[in-house]
Amino acid sequence: AGSAPLIVVSNRLPFVLTRDKIGKLRRSHSAGGLVTALGPVVIKCGGLWIGWPGSHDMRTLDEIPEPDIPNGGLKSQQVKAVLVRQELFDSFYNGCCNGTFWPLFHSMPDRAIFSSETWKSIPLKDQHTKTKSVQAYQEVNEEFALKTIDALRQVHSRLLKEYNGNEDVMPVPVVWIHDYQLMLAAAMIRQVAIEENLACKLGFFLHIPFPSWDIMRLFPWDDQILEGILACDMVGFHIDDYCTNFIECCQRRLGCRVDHANGNVEYDNRTVHVRPLPIGIPFNHFQELALKAPRVMKDERVVLGVDRLDYTKGLVQRIKAFERLLERHPEHLERVVLMQIAVPSRTDVKEYKALKEEIDQLVGRINGRFSTADWSPIRYIYGCISQDNLAAFYRDSAVALVTPLRDGMNLVAKEFVACQINETGVLILSPFAGAGGTMREALLVNPYEVDMVSEMIHKALIMDVGERQRRMKLLRERESSMDVDYWMASFLREMQLVECAITGSP
Ligand code: UDP
Ligand code: G6P
Repeated sequence: AGSAPLIVVSNRLPFVLTRDKIGKLRRSHSAGGLVTALGPVVIKCGGLWIGWPGSHDMRTLDEIPEPDIPNGGLKSQQVKAVLVRQELFDSFYNGCCNGTFWPLFHSMPDRAIFSSETWKSIPLKDQHTKTKSVQAYQEVNEEFALKTIDALRQVHSRLLKEYNGNEDVMPVPVVWIHDYQLMLAAAMIRQVAIEENLACKLGFFLHIPFPSWDIMRLFPWDDQILEGILACDMVGFHIDDYCTNFIECCQRRLGCRVDHANGNVEYDNRTVHVRPLPIGIPFNHFQELALKAPRVMKDERVVLGVDRLDYTKGLVQRIKAFERLLERHPEHLERVVLMQIAVPSRTDVKEYKALKEEIDQLVGRINGRFSTADWSPIRYIYGCISQDNLAAFYRDSAVALVTPLRDGMNLVAKEFVACQINETGVLILSPFAGAGGTMREALLVNPYEVDMVSEMIHKALIMDVGERQRRMKLLRERESSMDVDYWMASFLREMQLVECAITGSP
């Protein structure tokens, strides 16, 4: 059999579609770890990608424009856009996805909304009462599932033609579902695939942490989420800890038989494989961007932060730590700047709005306190930067401050080292990011300890060049070998080991 056709399903496509002045649709860059990593591998393997185009004003799918650069993006025939009524989508995206699951899975239950006055509870046929946003979550997951099944049918008829109807030698398509927005989609895909004899294997990958049982059980319908994920044959997480948490939840909530040592969960007379698959970045691509990019910064030494504006990223603590540095080590005044790029994100969710206000005020206060006629300590960009410019910032900064309070992996840390072609920069990293477990040559610091973070920035700024290069070299070696192609290959290898539970023949 030839190589297995791949269907990727994620909430976000690797671009946002927007209309220009004359009403023509254009692709623009979308930020976030998921698309940076997945984009290049799906382009390379020629797979299909099912997802939301980031806007609601599209009429037909034929309208998806081709990428600007030939071979520089997914061809429009590789993309299947899921279009959902805006009101339903908003309730799904701002409600359950980013109002509930995002904070909960990052172990911040105080920020999670489980139900509220505005989300009236609506009774369902089967006696359960669900909040409107949970209901929307289910409905949108079904929309994604339907689109995926359509794609699967098409792939099957193409394969049947190619292999003259000989199903025994046909490769088995792989459906790969991504992230917390789509934890229920697999159940429906599996059910229809069985009914229609559409052979396939189902995989799931979570790009954020999976929380412990203590936290997961706070969600009233946790059993349905676990069962939704278990509808897959293989489930991947970034690190061992998240696998352990998931397996424990299956055992305690659903009573599944589990094998921690081998990462197996028995469910519905099947074995579900649970595997740590730490994601990497397109290392060579970032390195090449760094080699080409023109200089974008002045002569000060730059301490760089690059994040979506999200409360999990520890921005408030980080900015306060930089203020503390200026108080305790005034020798850095007028010599060092904190350049913080904050990408607008989920701006309709209350917690994100409040954070934006808080950061605006904090930056204003600190700049007011320390600025001189020709120097300000914080350069704050509220916007999205292209990869070319980002590569220049990564390359020319003295220090990268990657200090999330909690983060599934964090690709910014990896992109920074890929762009450090002179190997003179220092990475300061939180142990609470998935990346903190493997990037051991970084300076690791607890982001909640503001004094310690400020001392760590000082240490990075005065570190001798020999030590900086020794650390950076090792970091770069690891990320260049464990890059995103390695991650993809590990996923496909694990999928190959999975037995095909949904066979084509009746
Ligand atoms: N990013 C970007 N433009 C920006 C800032 C960030 O394209 O102005 C990208 C960045 O290159 C990285 C991703 O957004 O690939 C952020 O991924 P990460 O895993 O660090 O965090 P996430 O946003 O997924 O939580
Ligand atoms: C994280 C999530 C992704 C998401 C990205 C950007 O990386 O794991 O699923 O796409 O953030 O967030 P957004 O809500 O803009 O898609």
